[in-house]
Amino acid sequence: MDGDQIERLRATFRRAWLDQLEDWQRRNEIVLFDAVNLVLTQAAAAWAGIPADKDRAELCRELSGMVENAGGIGPSTMLALWRRRRTERTIGDLVRRVPSGALDLPANSPVRLVSEYVDAEGMPLDLASAAVEIINIIRPVVAIGRFIMFAALALHQHRQWYDKFAAGDDDGLEAFAEEVRRLYPFFPFIGGRARHPFEWKGYRFHEGDWVLLDLHGTNHDPRLFAEPDRFIPERGLSWKTRGFDFIPHGGGDPATTHRCPGEAVTVALIMEAVRLLTRSMAYQVPDQDMTVSLARMPARPKSGFRIDNVRRKPG
Ligand code: HEM
Repeated sequence: MDGDQIERLRATFRRAWLDQLEDWQRRNEIVLFDAVNLVLTQAAAAWAGIPADKDRAELCRELSGMVENAGGIGPSTMLALWRRRRTERTIGDLVRRVPSGALDLPANSPVRLVSEYVDAEGMPLDLASAAVEIINIIRPVVAIGRFIMFAALALHQHRQWYDKFAAGDDDGLEAFAEEVRRLYPFFPFIGGRARHPFEWKGYRFHEGDWVLLDLHGTNHDPRLFAEPDRFIPERGLSWKTRGFDFIPHGGGDPATTHRCPGEAVTVALIMEAVRLLTRSMAYQVPDQDMTVSLARMPARPKSGFRIDNVRRKPG
């Protein structure tokens, strides 16, 4: 995810959003969460090199279902798993067609990069592993929709920021996106197993012990963030400088630890979505239940954030 890839994905995302805006204008009301997930699916698929004959609405259900159902076990999880296997087969078929040149893909498209990857012994990935790796890149792009929905909620609840960005001012936009990632809940924690016995601050870990990293709790720790439950973009947060304090996607340095390598692109797409929401369209926010229950994982406002009367702004 170097700068060129991020820029290519950002520009593709912007185009997909503006295309969808035509459709949103024709509808009485849209659920922003669902609408943005579809935009992100279109952008991620085009950027990755998945041909347009793969139905985007179905792909969106598959990819967003994998995120939505990651927090529980039940019939919807089984359906999500079944969809996942089907997506893996479809993407595996694509990977098979790359070497023959049957797919005309740019050299830097993720489908091509993964398909042509060879390890230190010169061995390519098997089809199943290549498909999983490609899904591991496009699925989290769709997951950014949750933060974009929360960004829209923050713009609604803190009108002064809406007015500032609508006026074309980009100052503070990155800190706004980062504060959205700090305050609003996504996954509360991630788990791992201790590979070696060790001791840390008086706690003993044995090999194989389960360890949970408290993402939400750390991001709301009053020792690290004053008034942690308030939305204060003026904190000027950035994941680049807060390795183990501000950890919406895991802690540490992405080059050497498990910290997510997708943070830069996540912030770039949230920022672009804020520009689009405030400068490219006008909309109204009808009365709705915007409560966010922490009992649901991953969390979201109950309504999914409904907007109506969508109009494209000139320019
Ligand atoms: C909503 C946005 C995202 C969230 C909440 C998120 C969260 C996370 C977390 C918590 C991890 C660490 C998992 C662990 O080690 O246990 C992780 C790893 C990873 N993320 Fe993300 N991520 C997001 C977006 C992205 C994006 C946009 C990409 C790529 C385009 C991406 C690619 C990855 C990869 C490849 C890893 C595995 C890193 C490794 O351990 O080798 N993520 N993500």
